[in-house]
Amino acid sequence: MFALRVDDEIELRLLEEQHAEEIFALVDSNRAHLREWLPWVDEEVSANAARDYIKMMRERFTAFTGMAMGIWHQDRLAGAVSFVNIDQQSRWAEIGYWIDAPSQGHGIITRSCRAMINYAFDDLKLNRIVIRCADGNHRSRAIPERLGFRQEGRLRQTIWLYDRFWDALIYGMLADEWKAQKQKGRL
Ligand SMILES: CC(C)(COP(=O)(O)OP(=O)(O)OC[C@H]1O[C@@H](n2cnc3c(N)ncnc32)[C@H](O)[C@@H]1OP(=O)(O)O)[C@@H](O)C(=O)NCCC(=O)NCCS
Repeated sequence: MFALRVDDEIELRLLEEQHAEEIFALVDSNRAHLREWLPWVDEEVSANAARDYIKMMRERFTAFTGMAMGIWHQDRLAGAVSFVNIDQQSRWAEIGYWIDAPSQGHGIITRSCRAMINYAFDDLKLNRIVIRCADGNHRSRAIPERLGFRQEGRLRQTIWLYDRFWDALIYGMLADEWKAQKQKGRL
């Protein structure tokens, strides 16, 4: 199984069909928390739906166009972090993430994203990472901001959630900037 060790507590493992029940159970027990910003949660009504998603992302992994990783924190599945898409031609990827409510506030997502970004720049030789957040999603925005991303733009009224539009904030990090931050010991 493909895996990235983040630190003593966290391991990222490529999601496989065998994880569908576990992922579904985690989403199911976090519906109110997750659905506020992730509308797909309402469509995840069974382990089969989770299995279909995992299968699609496995195909993307094989084609090198995406990568969905489960986050195991102290050997328990706590959330997911993904390259929702990878553009091979222009060498950039977009990261998405979520974590179960009780595991928030411990830096698990920040640490997991850091490991994904290191992997993207060092191993996949990508040049750019993007994180896109609704402007009202302050916990999500804090992640690229904590990791030193630059806020590059605001796409007005791009995200429709339930009853209103939100602006999307685009955060970007370039390979050279990441390297420079690491050399300065900021990461
Ligand atoms: C967005 C989301 C993933 C953020 O989770 P989070 O737990 O706040 O993020 P982290 O795991 O990086 O934790 C950061 C917190 O841990 C603290 N922390 C502790 N140890 C840390 C460490 N080693 N490194 C970084 N932060 C650390 C930080 O200070 C911060 O605390 P604060 O919340 O009091 O400011 C989560 O709220 C979520 O799943 N939301 C619903 C889904 C969603 O919105 N997904 C994103 C769509 S764009």
